[in-house]
This record gives sequence, structure tokens and C-alpha cells, in this order.
Amino acid sequence: MAVMTDIKKEAQKAKEKINAMPTRVLICAGTGCVANGSKNVIKKFQELGCECADRECNCSSNTFSTVITGCHGFCEQGVLVVIPSLDVTYVKVKVEDVEEIVESHIKGGKPVERLLYTDPKTNEHVFKNENINFYAKQTRTSLANCGEINPESVDEYLAVGGYEALAKVLEENNPQNVIKTVADSGLRGRGGGGFSTGRKWGLMAAGDKKYVICNGDEGDPGAFMDRSIMEGDPHKLVEGMAIAAFATGADEGYIYVRAEYPLAIARLRTAIQEAEERNLLGKNIMGTGFSFDLHIKEGAGAFVCGEETALIASIEGERGMPRPKPPFPAVKGLFGKPTIINNVETLANVPLIIKKGAGWFKSFGTSTSAGTKTFALTGEVNNTGLIEVPMGTTLREIIFDIGGGIRNNKKFKAVQIGGPSGGCLTEEHLDLPLDYDSLIRAGAMVGSGGLVVMNEDTCIVEVARFFMNFTQNESCGKCVPCREGTKNMLRLLEKIVGGQAVMEDLALLEELALAVKDGSLCGLGKTAPNPVLSTLKYFRHEYEAHILEKRCPAGVCKAFKTIIIEEDLCKGCTKCARVCPVNAIEGKVKEVHKIKQEACIKCGSCLAACPFKAIKEV
Ligand SMILES: Cc1cc2nc3c(=O)[nH]c(=O)nc-3n(C[C@H](O)[C@H](O)[C@H](O)COP(=O)(O)O)c2cc1C
Repeated sequence: MAVMTDIKKEAQKAKEKINAMPTRVLICAGTGCVANGSKNVIKKFQELGCECADRECNCSSNTFSTVITGCHGFCEQGVLVVIPSLDVTYVKVKVEDVEEIVESHIKGGKPVERLLYTDPKTNEHVFKNENINFYAKQTRTSLANCGEINPESVDEYLAVGGYEALAKVLEENNPQNVIKTVADSGLRGRGGGGFSTGRKWGLMAAGDKKYVICNGDEGDPGAFMDRSIMEGDPHKLVEGMAIAAFATGADEGYIYVRAEYPLAIARLRTAIQEAEERNLLGKNIMGTGFSFDLHIKEGAGAFVCGEETALIASIEGERGMPRPKPPFPAVKGLFGKPTIINNVETLANVPLIIKKGAGWFKSFGTSTSAGTKTFALTGEVNNTGLIEVPMGTTLREIIFDIGGGIRNNKKFKAVQIGGPSGGCLTEEHLDLPLDYDSLIRAGAMVGSGGLVVMNEDTCIVEVARFFMNFTQNESCGKCVPCREGTKNMLRLLEKIVGGQAVMEDLALLEELALAVKDGSLCGLGKTAPNPVLSTLKYFRHEYEAHILEKRCPAGVCKAFKTIIIEEDLCKGCTKCARVCPVNAIEGKVKEVHKIKQEACIKCGSCLAACPFKAIKEV
């Protein structure tokens, strides 16, 4: 078999085609930049340069070629335009800027300084990505191709060594060896649980028919790393799944993606079609006798459908509800057949591990958590976006180096890590290495990698209420502890932020949290109390302030606020009374107005409407 030689020939051809293109202008076409108008920016570049959008590019007579890419991660600076041969990254590019970039920089050699990233600390312009603090401390491996290659072109993936890992395993034809390499690498599931991927693959039962499923449900609020990989590097996922199928003896697979991810679905469809056309998927792949058919299943967007047994039910056309384990899917999964389910990021790491070796992967991270991890960094930090760092990087490095510190020079208060299944950590955890075990010990978890940074103006009890509201809404209702427990926990949290709770409510909240954690059927209920338990552990005084002192220390909860009108400033213009939705303001024209406190719902409309700043919250 000359599988590797064949794939290297394909790569060479692809490279030649790409090298023949004139100056490559890489424009982010990830969801964030599309929302910022990147489609129009792309169109304008195409008008001024190459119109072929690269797939069948024949534009060597042009000055530059327009290449769409996936997400670069720094979404808040979008639309991002990178021109590698000119060593430049332009940020916040608008349609109106395109002509200047083309004329001044691409044709004239003079950079457009106003469109460069400006370092907020030094106030200096920064040319290259790697000199921008947000990128400088990152180690991008699973995200390496996102922003660098066109996700809608298999040639671009081949040119950077894509499908070589698949060729390698097919040529060696030793599935056990593949499983051993993945196990030796220390790769643990990136979908939340952190189970050893190699071990999971080794547990796949024997059977006439087996499946591989990629879990692209990504329901955690704030997380978008799986989406970025699916949108920005879909072939890597396809390749990872084909390797997983070969290792475990499966011949059919599904990518389960929520329907809210239309761009990811479209790019995956293109990738599957292209891979089939090149005989990298489908029957008798590269003449080796190995066959693997891949389908996409669109999910309707229920958080519980990310749970593996609920996900299987959903693909089978049933209502997405979990079932007790064992049997585990590896023994009895999709349509009753042995099935492997892995997360997008987990599978995207597989081709790299096969190509570069278990030792390479283990050289990143900690002794028990190998490799890198993507995090969606959001909240009150200066630089928000998608980042990838070695496991074991500290919160301080992420928040203050990559994230550029807290916005508006406010004080750091807490970070919610791991989404609704995770927990809140505090200043004392800033030097905690982020890895599976350290986080569990601290009462949080890596989860899917959502990282929400909060400042001193955040009410921790309200944060716990927010996450409980989410999990209660998403509970499928099958088991009583989760269905009734989360409802009652939410009720108690509402009582606390509403200023009506007594200390017995706090004791009951804690008792319920432990009961829901212990008694629920699936991970949704088992982890739903985490935000409450972790905030009770580190911020109990805030709960007590709400209950005993009838005070919200962060000054957020409406229940503890009174809105008043300052008599000497009020001119009787009536604007406040006219916007009040509950008619709680009385007063005649040109006379001082008053708020009926018993009727006021503290919505703040009057505050915004008053032209004389006569209305205040106290
Ligand atoms: C309520 C709930 C939601 C989940 N959502 C996801 C998800 O969106 N994506 C994901 O990969 N795993 C999710 N998981 C974990 C999966 O059930 C499963 O453990 C994971 O996909 C296995 O892949 P891994 O070993 O590669 O992490 C969720 C689990 C629970 C309990």
C-alpha cells in the first residue's frame, strides 16, 4: 500500500496550487466576524482582486487573492484581516477600509496604521498576531489551522499535512496501536468529563456493526470552541473521526451539531462531500479496504441532548432524554450497537497525536492533564475571545496576560469556569493551575471550557440564580431529583435575591443541592448544583448579607434598592411619569414628582428618562 506516498503527492499538488496564488489575504469568516460584517468585507476584497473565492482559484494575474478562513479567536476585534506575506494583522476592518488596504499596503507597500491593533497599555500599534498580547501566551495546536486556512477547501487542509495521520494509520493497519498511542498521549475527553480517550476506545465491545459519534452539541452558555473548530477546520474533525472509526472498528459515524450552528453545518457538509470526492471518506478509503460513512445530525438545541445517552436517543428519532448507565454506549449505544462518543476538540487532537506522537502531546500540560485546552474567555476582561493554552496554565495568566486584565480598571472578583456544570473561583485561586484534577479539588471543573470573568460589581448570588435558571429550564424532567430539586433550588435563590429569605432557606438550599447532586440520573442534574455549592463555599457571606442584612454587597439586586426623586432637582417635566410602566410616579406639571414605593418595580425607566438627573437609586 502506498497510502502515505499518495497523500503526500496530493499535498504537494495542493501546495503548488496554493503557492501559485498571489499575496493571500486571509479574512475571518467565523460567526463572530460574519456578525461584524465580514461577508461584505470579503466581497469588497474579491471585487478589487480575485473573484474566485479560492476554491478553483486561477488568479495568478491578480495582485492578491481573497481567502476566507475560520475564527482567529479575537472576535471582539473583528473583522480580522491577516496578510501573512506582509506580516500584518488588521483589526476592526470595515468595507470602507478595504480599498485603502489594497492601494496603500498591498499595492503601495505602505501599511494602514490606523487599522492595526493598538496595545492598550503602551498605546503602540502592533503589526503581527504573535506580538498581540492576546495571542502571545497561547499555544494553538487544535486551533492552529483556524484563521490560517480556507475551511471550504480540502486542498488547503492537505497542503498543511491534513489526512497524513489517517494515511499513516491505514498504512500501518494496526488499530490496537492507534488506541495505544492515543492512550499513551494522556488525551482526556474535552467534552467535560475528562475520561481517557484511549481507554474509552479500548472499551468498545465487539460487534458486527459499530458507530462513532462526534458530540458537537455545545450547549454550555458562553462556550464556542467546538463551533470554531467545526467552522474553521472541519476536515481535521472528519480526519479525527475516521481515525477513531478505524481504531475501534466502526464503519459509520454521525456528527451531532445543534441547528443554531448553521455555518458549522454548512462547512461540515462541504468537508464531507470533498473528502468523499477524494476517497478520504466513504467506501474503500484510499484503496485500503477500510470504509467509513459520515452523516450530520442536526439537533434542536436542548442542553440535555449533549449528554451522550440523550444524544443517542435524539439521533434515533426519540425524545432526547438520558438513560441510566451501564450499559455504556461503548457496549450498547446507537441503535443498540457499540458506539464511541467523543467531543469535537477531543477528536480534533487525534490527527495531531498520530502525526506528532504521544510524547509530543504529553510535552504540553501537566502530568495528569496532557495537551492544551481551548477556553472561551468572556466577561469583564479587556480581551475576550477564544484561546488555547497548555493545561496547567494559571487563571492569572489567562485573565491578566491573555485577557489583558479587568475592564475599566475594576477589581477582579470571581471567575465562573466550566459553564453551568462548573463553579465559581475566587482571587485565592488565581495561581491555581487549570487542569482536570486541581479544578475538581477546588470545587469547579474544566467542563467545556467556558470562562466568565466577573468584577466587583457582580452579585455572586445572582450568578448562581442565573445558572440555576438555565439548568432548571433545560432539565428534561425524567428524574425527580433534577426536575423538582432544581425547581426548588431556583425558588430559594429567587427568594434570596428578592430579599424575602430567612436563614432556614439557606440551609435548605444547601441540603437540596447535595441531594440533587447525589440523586440525579444524568450529569445535568448531578452538576447543576455546582455553581450554588461553590459560591456557598467561597461567598457564603454574600448570601448571608442578602438574608440577614437585607443588602446586596455588589449593589445589584433590585429588591434592596429604592428609587427616589430629589426634590430640588425635579422640574416637574413629567417625562418620568410618562415612561413608568406601572404608573408609580405621581405629580403635576411643573411640580415636584414622587415615587409610590409600594408600586415601583425598580425597572429604571425613569432614571433613564429624567433629563435633570433628579432620579437616583439609593
Ligand atoms: C447535560 C450534559 C450536556 C453535555 N453537553 C456536551 C456537549 O455539548 N458536548 C460534548 O462534547 N459533551 C457534552 N457532554 C458530555 C457528553 O455526555 C460526553 O461525556 C462527551 O461528549 C464525551 O466525549 P469526550 O470523552 O471526548 O469528552 C454533556 C454532558 C451532560 C451531562
